[in-house]
Formats: sequence, C-alpha cells, structure tokens
Amino acid sequence: MSKYSFTRIAHPSPKTAEERATLMANPGFGKVFSDHMVTIKWTTEKGWHDAEVRPREPFQIDPAASVLHYAQEIFEGMKAYRMADGSIGSFRPEENARRFNESAARMAMPEIPQDMFMEAIEALVHTDADWIPEGDGSFYLRPFMFASEAFLGVRPANEYIFCVIGSTVGAYFKGGYKTVSVWISQDYTRAAPGGTGAAKCGGNYAASLIATAEAFKNGCDQVVFLDAVERKWIDELGGMNVFFVMDDKTIITPPLGTILPGITRDSIIQIAREAGYTVKETPYSFDEWKEDAESGKLREAFACGTAAVIAGIGTVKYPGGTFAIGNSGDGEVTSDLRSRLTGIQRGTQKDNHGWMRTL
Ligand code: PLP
Ligand code: COI
Repeated sequence: MSKYSFTRIAHPSPKTAEERATLMANPGFGKVFSDHMVTIKWTTEKGWHDAEVRPREPFQIDPAASVLHYAQEIFEGMKAYRMADGSIGSFRPEENARRFNESAARMAMPEIPQDMFMEAIEALVHTDADWIPEGDGSFYLRPFMFASEAFLGVRPANEYIFCVIGSTVGAYFKGGYKTVSVWISQDYTRAAPGGTGAAKCGGNYAASLIATAEAFKNGCDQVVFLDAVERKWIDELGGMNVFFVMDDKTIITPPLGTILPGITRDSIIQIAREAGYTVKETPYSFDEWKEDAESGKLREAFACGTAAVIAGIGTVKYPGGTFAIGNSGDGEVTSDLRSRLTGIQRGTQKDNHGWMRTL
C-alpha cells in the first residue's frame, strides 16, 4: 500500500515500442535511459514534498546551486530484474536505502524515509516497466540527491532534490565475463581515514577519475586504490570491491573502513561462508598480492559490485611491471560464487536469505 502520493505527469512522447526495442537490443552500460524520472524536493521549512513521476528531462537549476560548487551530492546503484514469472525483482533494495541515508548523514544532507525511497523506486519501475529487459540484461536504477539551494556560502544547503532515473543495461565491461585487467594507482589515493570513502558521494568518483584515466592509458579496465596512509594495502577499485582466492580456497577481502561497504561484497561473504569457504576480512597488501600471484599461492582475484556483478581479474599492471593471476581466465571459485549470486538474483536458485523483493 502506498503511503506517499506521487503526482503523475505522463510523458508527452514516450519512445515507440520499435525505438525502444532498437535501444534495448544492445544497451551497453548507462547509455539507454527510460522515459520517466521520479523527483522529490526537500526544504528546511517543508521537509520532503512535491513527489512526482514525470518525463525524464533536464533539470533547471540555479547557477549558484550548491552542488555545482561544493559537490554536495550522493547516489546509489541498484538493479531491477525481469523474473521468469514476469514479475519485477530487486536484490536487497532496503540495503541501498540504508546506505543512501548513511551517505546522506556523512554529507550533512537530509535522510529520506526508507519507505519513501522504496516507493520512489517502485513508481519509476512500474511506470517504465517496458524498459526492463528479459534475459541477461537488467534495469539499473540510479537514485541520487543533490543540493539545489542557490547560495555561495559554504555550509550544508537548505534545499535538495532527490531523483531516480533508470537505464536498461547489459554487461558493465565490454567483454562480458572475460577477465579484466587492473592498474595499481601509486600516485593517487581514493579515501583517507575520516574522509568520505565509505559514502557514495559524487566527489569520491570525481577525485578518482584521473587514476581511472591513467588505468585506461595503460591499457587497463579499472583502477585499484591503495590505502592513503601507508600506500600499501589494497582498498578497492574505482567502482567495485575486490576479493582474493588462495590455493586452499581461503577468500580474502579488505576490511570496511575507508572503502564503500558494497552490498554485493556483503552478499558474497555470506554466500561463500555458507558454501563452506573460509572468508577473511583482513588487510592484504600489494606486495603480498604480487608475491602470492607469482608463487601460485593466489589462484584468483575478482571485482564485484552491482554494475559489474562479479568480474574475474586476469592481469595486474603497476608502474614497475605486470603480473598475471592464475591462468588469467575465469577462476573456479569466482564462477562458483557468481553462479550462486546470480542464481538468487535471477530466481533460479533458492533465496534462503529473503534478499529478493518484488517491486
Ligand atoms: N566500491 C565502489 C567504489 C563502488 O562504486 C561500488 C558500486 O556501487 C562498489 C564498491 C560495490 O557496491 P555494491 O556492491 O553495493 O554495488
Ligand atoms: C554500481 O556498481 O552500481 C556503481 O555505482 C559503480 C559504477 C561503476 C557504475
């Protein structure tokens, strides 16, 4: 039952079924958008108000809007799936709502009631259900919030806009599930203790782009950040968490703190432990990574996140050289965990945790 009322403004000219089919045939990642968006405003005086489902269109914001100057902005990334029975499923969406509010708190922004966040997601998904593909693709939902107040002083803004847009997506990496290559950033770090590493704020990504550009220049798909204090420990990738699989099938992943607490990461830890693997949330250094890969002690490494799901890491490059992981192919544990996770997400495996929500 819906608790909030969303004013509905239908799209004046939605894409025709034919135009939509062409766009959805080969969507790539984050380029094909659905017809509508949800917006909800917040002001200090009125709190949350003016919830709307309306045509997706450019915002009109003041040139002095705080977000354009001080980057007070947060976002989430989650997916809706077309399930075998035709219903629309989503994976642990309340975790995205919870993390969104943790990011909001860190960025001195207003929190949004969890049920309002969920209703906004549902309103968009139901309005634009035709954009949710069947088969392997999914509908990537991007809830975000930004400071819209026109004010040049530096302080938390008094006006915000919350918005949800949706995008039909295929695989995040071009090669699908072929392994990816990563670049170790030695000059740039992503997050320091006390900073915003655990929040999903746009500023973290802005600061990471130079390192991503460096990774691309070196022929790699993603960047790996080391910790900001000792420049020694693996933190995470530009847009994904990371796991290492040893020859005894022990799995290691960096502990929470300055990294984004990934929902995929948390799910993998639980799934792997239930499947009998030992999982350690413990610091792992770049030197260990290199040594263990070269000695054969490390058999697999993989990146994980909502967008990328689970992508094996085949090659690691750093300013002084390069090394391969295992046979540079998709590892046994990596593909085992991927099939367990995607099985739950796609409804082909039992969801013992009650992680799936019908939207
Ligand atoms: N780390 C970063 C920096 C990310 O951008 C993401 C993607 O959201 C993740 C990790 C993985 O998080 P999740 O599994 O919740 O998508
Ligand atoms: C996600 O996985 O949802 C992200 O936000 C990361 C980005 C690489 C798209």
